[in-house]
Parts: sequence; structure tokens; C-alpha cells
Amino acid sequence: MKVRSGFILLSVLTIILTAGVCLIWKPVLWSLVVTAPIILIGFYDLTQKRQTILRNFPVLGHFRYLLESIRPEIMQYFVETDTQGRPINRMFRSLIYQRAKDVTDTVPFGTQMDVYRSGYEWMDHSMYAIDKKIIDTKPRVLVGGKHCRQPYSASLMNVSAMSYGSLSKNAVLALNKGAKMGDFAQNTGEGSISPFHLEPNGDLIWQIGTGYFGCRTKEGTFCPDSFAEKANLDSVKMIEIKISQGAKPGHGGILPAAKNTKEIAEIRNITPHTDVHSPPSHSAFSNPEELIEFISLLRERSNGKPIGFKLCVGKQQEFIEICKAMIKTGVTPDFITVDGGEGGTGAAPVEFSNSLGMPLRDGLAFVYDTLVGYGLKDEIKLMASGKIFTGFHIARALALGADMVSCARAMMMAIGCIQALECNTNSCPVGVATQNKSLMSGLDVNDKSFRVANFHRKTLKSFTELIAAAGVDSPEKLERKHVNRRIGMNVIKKYDEIFPYTKANSLL
Ligand SMILES: Cc1cc2nc3c(=O)[nH]c(=O)nc-3n(C[C@H](O)[C@H](O)[C@H](O)COP(=O)(O)O)c2cc1C
Repeated sequence: MKVRSGFILLSVLTIILTAGVCLIWKPVLWSLVVTAPIILIGFYDLTQKRQTILRNFPVLGHFRYLLESIRPEIMQYFVETDTQGRPINRMFRSLIYQRAKDVTDTVPFGTQMDVYRSGYEWMDHSMYAIDKKIIDTKPRVLVGGKHCRQPYSASLMNVSAMSYGSLSKNAVLALNKGAKMGDFAQNTGEGSISPFHLEPNGDLIWQIGTGYFGCRTKEGTFCPDSFAEKANLDSVKMIEIKISQGAKPGHGGILPAAKNTKEIAEIRNITPHTDVHSPPSHSAFSNPEELIEFISLLRERSNGKPIGFKLCVGKQQEFIEICKAMIKTGVTPDFITVDGGEGGTGAAPVEFSNSLGMPLRDGLAFVYDTLVGYGLKDEIKLMASGKIFTGFHIARALALGADMVSCARAMMMAIGCIQALECNTNSCPVGVATQNKSLMSGLDVNDKSFRVANFHRKTLKSFTELIAAAGVDSPEKLERKHVNRRIGMNVIKKYDEIFPYTKANSLL
């Protein structure tokens, strides 16, 4: 990239010029007092592996840290507020980085949140807290209903869907290698399975979106044969039909022309260097019964691997209709991923990101209650995503009814994302969400894979400690009564009052 090669060129020219001028005018050597340290710092930046921004922008990258120490950027990802009602950016962002880097992740002095603002949420601890040592710190969830022939023992926390194309090759490699180390799964996103998803041999959830990338005919419809080929790969542990994602429900995926390289186009079977907009809905099904048939087809062609679908809740009646179709046909998915309207994306129209789709907590409670009401929950595991990146976030999702969770943006931050908000321009400065070879080469796969595994391990450890403090000895025992929300200055409600449980089979 220009900055790195520019720096090397400039350094070499400076040295040659200084040496040349020195032959006729010795005092020029004094200029080395300034230039030599800059050159040395720059070469150190280029060769170190921990800070991508410095590898990509030698010397200049330090200004980011300098500016940040004066005025940290507002990070839109973190919406909770501090005692003055300002978004908490530093605390949570540092937390992800600290856990990823495996350094101290405790905070000094006490709470940094305004505990009297409406919406503040917390868990009840117990006087009879459990010794955390007796709780499994690597909890697993068995995914696979009665029709599944290859159930998958999933981690409680996984990498949420993000495609190769949206993410760089090195980002995909680092996430997959981290998943392999920590024994959890990486969702491929709708951009198909790339060689970089397979190289480190980590577990995969293969996502199939409306573009059917990786299993598509020339016309762009679903191709059962190419599906079967990939679905039966060893690394593919589960298959997820993407119905919608929270950041842009009802809008297909977008791959900007700048990121649509020849290699990506080959993997997806599309035309390179063009904007690719996936259709907003599936051509393989257009009603609940057809969705169920599609699930059966994928199950058959994958030899019984767990099949699920991902949605952000929109029209509730449509989900109810799917449940009725499950009962009518006796066919259920093995898992459902509920994504919140607060979800992330590489590229989306702003109205879709901000004003469409049910937020996670409401959507998750609705899906769980509907499944319980129709007597379907025992067959189907629930995965939740949408700004889940702390132990408390996991506990809250499980209390509402999730069995496991997945994280996208927190995992991006674990591999060095600084929220430059350049995912849709191909100029991500830290090489995470770009296809620019030079920018991505700054991201050291080995170093960042450890960070992914560390973030996963430390977050689950914090989750375990939290539930132990609440006197709960296993994740499945978390209930809505364990979480409180402040509604007003003098009003507090427990989650089971805000989201009252539906009685089992009561909707049948
Ligand atoms: C860069 C990026 C790419 C994404 N690509 C996909 C995708 O291909 N398919 C999908 O279902 N969701 C996609 N998502 C959404 C995430 O999988 C996830 O559902 C959402 O961001 C909420 O999780 P988070 O709050 O942990 O980021 C993407 C998100 C990001 C940030």
C-alpha cells in the first residue's frame, strides 16, 4: 500500500540524500537527529505484529493513539451510558481489547454506569454464591432435533455470520484459527465457504443467503448438487438459512464492486468488479410449508447435519405461521438464530439499519415464547445475536430463552477493528473489512487468532463467574426472574414481569 511503500521509499531517499549532501556539506548530518529516530520508529512499526494500524501506517499511526488519549472517538456500537448519560465507549471497547490481548480486564474505582437511568439492567446476586470452580467454564450445547443424524456440540459463544468478501482473507483466517483453538464455530456468512474458512480447520456454520453463493445455478437459484458437495465437508457442522439479519432485514446482502475481486467472484459464482445485491427474499421458498420442505431437502442432502434459520423478527404472524407449518408437517429446524434490529453489517441503507426489525430482547422473548406455546422448543435450540459481548449480555440472552449466542462486531474488534466505519469502502485501515491486499497484510493472522480465542475464553469465564455469583450452577438454569430492569426512578421490573412466560403447549 502507498503509505508503507511510501515510507520505505522516503526513508531510503532520505538516507541516500543525507549521505550524498554530507560529502559536500558536513553539517547536514545534524538533520539525522530528527530523521533517524523517525526512520527507526517507522521500521519498528513495520516489523511489529501486534498493532495493525502501525504496520499499515508506520509513524503516522501513532497520531491515532495520541488523539485518542485526548478525545476518544464515539463508538456507536456501545450504546449504554455512563453517569453523565454519555455513550460508554472507552470502557467496553477497552474490555474487548483487554480480553482479546489477555491482559488485566478489571476496572478500578467502581461502577461507571448511571444506575438510576431508565433501562439500566442488572442481575440479582445470591448470599449463597456458588464456587465458580464447580461450574463448567466451557459449557456446550447439543444442537440436533429428532431428524438430525449428526448433532453438533456447540460452544455457548460463537462467531456470528460475516462473509469472506465483507471481511478480508486474513480476518477470516484469524477468526477460523481462533475458533479452532477455542473449540467454537465460525459462521461463514452468506458469501459461501472460502479456502480461508477451511485452511485452519475450525468448525463452520455454513450460511445460505438469498444469493445461494456456493450452491447456486448460473441463473442464481439454489443448486442441490453443489450444496451437497460443500455441506458434506467435515468442517461444516451446521447449516443456516439466512432469512434476514437485524441490520438490514428485507434487504439482500451487498457486496460493493470495490470488494468484488476475481477470487471472490469465483467463490460466489458471480461477475467480478460489479456491485452485487442479493435478492431481498429466497427463490427456493415463498411460504412456511415451502421453507419446511427446504429444511428437509437441506437435511437430506447434508446427510442429517443440523439445519437452522436466522431471522430478525418482523411480522410476528409470519413466525407463528412457520410454527404451525412445523406442527402440521412434523418437521422442525434444529436451531433458530434470532438477530436483533441492533445488529451490524458491512453495508446497508441507514433506514434499514436504524428503523427496521425487532430489537434482540423483544424478538428473542417472542420466538422463545411462541416455540414453547406450540410445544416446539424441546426440538429447537435458540442462538441469539445483537451486541452481545460481555458475560452479562450472555446471561441476559440465556435468561430470555437463548441456548447459545454469537458475536460479530466484538470478534471484529478482537482482531483489531477500530470502528473506522470503512467496511463499505474497501479502505478499512486495519485490514479487517477490506480486499486491499496491502491493508490486509498488516493483520497478523497468528497474533490475532490468539486474541479471538482469548476473547472467547475470557468472556465465557466472566459469564461463569457472574452466574456463580447469582447462585445459578448451570447456564440452562438461568431464568427471566434473574434479570431486573429499571423502568422509572422508583419502578423496577423483573424480566418475567416484562416478558411474562407463555405456558407450554398453550398455543396449540
Ligand atoms: C462486517 C459484517 C458482515 C456481516 N455479514 C453477515 C452475513 O453475511 N450474514 C448475516 O446473516 N449476518 C451478517 N452480519 C450480521 C452479524 O452476523 C450479526 O448478526 C450482527 O452483526 C449482530 O451481532 P453483533 O452485534 O455481535 O455484531 C454481518 C455483520 C458485520 C459486522
